[in-house]
Amino acid sequence: ARGIDLTDVRALDALARGMREADARVWHAGPVIGGRLRGPSDGGKTGSDDRAQPVHSPADTEHVVGDVVWAGADDIEAALASAAAAADRWDATPGTERAACLRRYADLLETHMPELIALCAREAGKHIPDGVAEVREAVDFCRYYACQVEDEFSGEMPLPGPTGERNTYRLDGRGVFVCISPWNFPLAIFTGQVAAALAAGNAVIAKPAEQTCLIGARAVALMHEAGIPGDVLHLLPGDGPSVGAKLVTDLRVAGVAFTGSLATAKAINKSLAERDGPLIPLIAETGGQNAMIVDSSALIEQVVADVIKSGFQSAGQRCSALRVLYVQNDIADTLLTMLSGAMAELSVGDPWRLSTDVTPVIDAEARDALIDYADKAGKTYESIYTCRLGEDTRRGTFVAPRAFGLKNVDELGDEQFGPIVHVVRFEADEIDEVVDAINGLGYGLTFGIHSRIDTTVERVLRRIKVGNAYVNRNMIGAVVGVHPFGGEGLSGTGPKAGGPHYLHRFATERAVSRDT
Ligand code: NAD
Ligand code: ALA
Repeated sequence: ARGIDLTDVRALDALARGMREADARVWHAGPVIGGRLRGPSDGGKTGSDDRAQPVHSPADTEHVVGDVVWAGADDIEAALASAAAAADRWDATPGTERAACLRRYADLLETHMPELIALCAREAGKHIPDGVAEVREAVDFCRYYACQVEDEFSGEMPLPGPTGERNTYRLDGRGVFVCISPWNFPLAIFTGQVAAALAAGNAVIAKPAEQTCLIGARAVALMHEAGIPGDVLHLLPGDGPSVGAKLVTDLRVAGVAFTGSLATAKAINKSLAERDGPLIPLIAETGGQNAMIVDSSALIEQVVADVIKSGFQSAGQRCSALRVLYVQNDIADTLLTMLSGAMAELSVGDPWRLSTDVTPVIDAEARDALIDYADKAGKTYESIYTCRLGEDTRRGTFVAPRAFGLKNVDELGDEQFGPIVHVVRFEADEIDEVVDAINGLGYGLTFGIHSRIDTTVERVLRRIKVGNAYVNRNMIGAVVGVHPFGGEGLSGTGPKAGGPHYLHRFATERAVSRDT
C-alpha cells in the first residue's frame, strides 16, 4: 500500500490539511442495515436505549468526536434476516467481482487516508504514524485477499484420479459470518476480518468494538461505496453482551471471526458449543504474554530501541507488544540504565502532535485498571523506571510507561494491555529454563530474541511455542503476506491473518467426483 512520507514537508502539509477538514466534521455511527445508517429517531421499537450517545476522545475526554446509536434487538434481527437472504447470491458472484470490490475499497481507503488517520487519532487515540500504519494494513489485507480469491475461489480446481473419473475441488462461502473486532486496530483488524469473510463469499455482520464505532461505520460506508451490496454487509454497533453474544448464538450464523480478549474468546466458544444447530468455525485471535530474550552477545543500543518500540508504541495496546524482557545478568545493569535513559526521552501526549511517542490508553476503565496494577506492582516488584506524563495529558486517559523488575514470570498474572514492561534477569546457562518458563505461560503469540550467536537463536527458535518470532529486531507491526500473524495456545485458534490459509477457514470445501 501507499504510505505517507512523514519526513516530507509537502506530504505533511497535505496530510494536516486533510486531517483538519475531517476534524471539523461531526461523525455519526449507528446500525447500518441494507446499506442504510439508522439514526436515533427512526428506530421504532429497537429493544434498546435508542438515543445517540456522544463519543469522547481518549486524548481529551471533553472532546466529542461524534455520536453513536447502538443496535437493538430489532436491528440484530433485521441484519440477520437480510444477510441470510443475500448470502447465496453473494457467494454466486464471481470471485473476480468480489476481488474487484475489495480493490476499489482499498483505493478508497488510500484516497481518504488523512480523514481516516484523523478519526483514528480522535476516536482511538492513535498517533499519526500508527494511523498511517492502520490504513496501510487495511489496504494490504484487501489487496492480499483479493489476489487469493482470484487464484483460489474462482471456479473448480481439477484433482487427480483414475481414468474414467473426473475429480474437482472448490471453495464456497459458508453463509453469514459474524465479525467481532477490538478497538486497538479499529480499521485494520475490522477490515481484515470483514474483507476475508466477504472475499470468501459470505454475507457479513460486523460488530465493531464499542469504543471505535465511528471508524467501523466509516469503513462500512466506504465498502458500500466500493460496490459491496448493502444486504451483504451490515454493521451493528453495541457492546459485547447485548450485540456480540446475541449474534453468535443465532442459528443463521455460519461462522464467527473474533479478535479480542481470551475471556471473550472462551465465552464465544462456549456459546457456539452449546448451540443446537450445525458446528461452525470460530476464528479467534486473542492476547499474549509476549517475551523477548536478550543474551550478552546482543547489541545493547538496538535492544533498547526495539524494547521501546515493542513495549510502548501504541501505548502497549498491541496484542503483539512486549510484556516480559529477559536479560542475561552480565549485561542487565548496562541495558537497564540505557533503557531508563531512553524511556526518559519518550514524549507521552496528544496523538495529534507528530512528536508524540506514547498515546493515551483507550478509556478511563483501561487507565484505572492499569494504574491500579502499576500501584500494586510498585509495591511488589523492583521499580526500574516510570515515565513522566506531558503537559497535554491532563484531560485524557494516559498511563505513564513503566518498567518493573521481577524474579520470575510465575509471579505474572493476566496480560496487562498497556505500556508496562516486566524485566527478568537470567544467567548464561539458564536459557533453556527461560524458554520453558515462557512456554509455561500457555500463550503463544509473539516472541523476540536478541543474540548474535546463531546456535543460541536456532536452539531457542526450535523450542519456543509462538506464532510469530522475531530475531534481532522489534516484535510488533506484522506486515500482511510478509509476516502472517496469529498465535497458538491461549493466543488463538489460527489460521494466521494475512497468511495463505486464512481465507480457507471462512469457506467450506467441496469435492466432487464424476464418473466420465
Ligand atoms: P474484548 O474481548 O473485551 O472485546 C473485543 C470485542 O468482543 C469487542 O467488539 C467486544 O464488544 C466484543 N465482546 C465482548 N464480550 C463479548 C461477548 N460476550 N460475546 C461476543 N462479543 C463480545 O477485547 P478488547 O479489550 O476490546 O481488546 C483487547 C484484547 O484483544 C487484548 O487481549 C489483546 O491482546 C487482544 N487482541 C488480539 C489480537 C490478535 O491478533 N491476536 C489483536 C488485537 C487485540
Ligand atoms: N499485527 C499487529 C502487530 O503485529 C498486531 O503489531
